[in-house]
Amino acid sequence: MRRALQLAARGPATGPNPRVGCVLLTPDGHVLAEGHHRGAGTAHAEAAALAELAARGAGAAGCTAVVTLEPCTHTGRTGPCAQALLAAGVARVVIADTDPNPTAAGGADLLRRAGVDVEVGLLAEAAHALNERWAAAVARGRPWVTWKFAATLDGRSAAADGTSRWITSAPARADVHRLRAGHDAVLVGTGTALADDPALTVRAADGTGEGGGPQPLRVVAGLRELPAGARLRDGRAELVHVRTRDPHAVLAVLAAREVRTVLLEGGPALAAAFARAGLVDEVVAYLAPALLGAGPAAVADLGVGGIADALRLDLAPGPEAVVRVGEDVRVTARPRARRAVERAPDPSHPPVVEEVARVHRDR
Ligand SMILES: NC(=O)c1ccc[n+]([C@@H]2O[C@H](COP(=O)([O-])OP(=O)(O)OC[C@H]3O[C@@H](n4cnc5c(N)ncnc54)[C@H](OP(=O)(O)O)[C@@H]3O)[C@@H](O)[C@H]2O)c1
Repeated sequence: MRRALQLAARGPATGPNPRVGCVLLTPDGHVLAEGHHRGAGTAHAEAAALAELAARGAGAAGCTAVVTLEPCTHTGRTGPCAQALLAAGVARVVIADTDPNPTAAGGADLLRRAGVDVEVGLLAEAAHALNERWAAAVARGRPWVTWKFAATLDGRSAAADGTSRWITSAPARADVHRLRAGHDAVLVGTGTALADDPALTVRAADGTGEGGGPQPLRVVAGLRELPAGARLRDGRAELVHVRTRDPHAVLAVLAAREVRTVLLEGGPALAAAFARAGLVDEVVAYLAPALLGAGPAAVADLGVGGIADALRLDLAPGPEAVVRVGEDVRVTARPRARRAVERAPDPSHPPVVEEVARVHRDR
């Protein structure tokens, strides 16, 4: 299973599907074949391992399959893996983590009913950690939301005259591009889109050169129009403008597009709306050792009347919680308890979604 977890980690951290690894063994424990999932539309880990075996003219009858996630039972872009293992005659299946996806779960039961020896739970914690954000997204039916902001030590996200470039140092800004690359979508409110004219693409910190990987979907929430010449319309990545002020509705639009992870980059008003709705799963704050004394706060009114009502966060476990990045400090934390009951968006007020720009494939 440790080897299967290593293989799984080679898969992409973004995209609609989880990272999964599979090792096929002889009954006495010799490795026959390995596979991992390389992203949506490609073979699942079990199918990849079975294909590697088949390419050598060998079969899997009587062997053991070790998989990091419960084999799926649904036909999506590829066929169901539980049936593929059955058809191959696998005798034993060892699974780390169960599948939280209601449309794909049930593989362990299906295999058991067919007479396969099934064991679930080996290194389950490590397997779950690999796909934590994906698992939360599919279980809740909405993307995982990471809220990122930059502020001075006194919590200001811009100066009194509105200037905010740059609060943090170049290494911190480079770190933000790494963070962006680890999410399916990047989201801002119309306030930030109009004030800063951001590109929201993954690129080098000096603003030159696009990152090598796929660009996250760019998303703007709010009712106001974006100007025709906005950098968000430059075609370097797809743009979706969701014309609503309902955070639930924004996430419903993204969930329908199979977006699993969103990096909420502000500004203060939109971040406050998400936090008040209980829709922030993780906070990444870049704190610059500077003071402004005046200017907007990193987050707008959260409806906190007294200190007892503060939205308390727990620092992330391990050394990643507080890290020095250049001259700045990155703090990663998670809300301690949900402050609002999650609800579905109001169906009588569907958001108007305008896809204002698609990717220019020739760029
Ligand atoms: N330091 C940082 O990390 C950071 C990050 C981002 C921005 N900023 C700064 O923040 C400033 C912009 O602040 P902002 O608060 O106006 O930006 P914002 O939060 O990006 O945009 C606010 C606008 O979003 C729309 N909106 C959509 N859903 C909303 C909701 N549920 N609640 C409230 N508004 C919603 C509203 O516009 P409509 O009328 O169009 O609906 C609202 O006026 C800029 O100066 C920018 O530089 C700083």
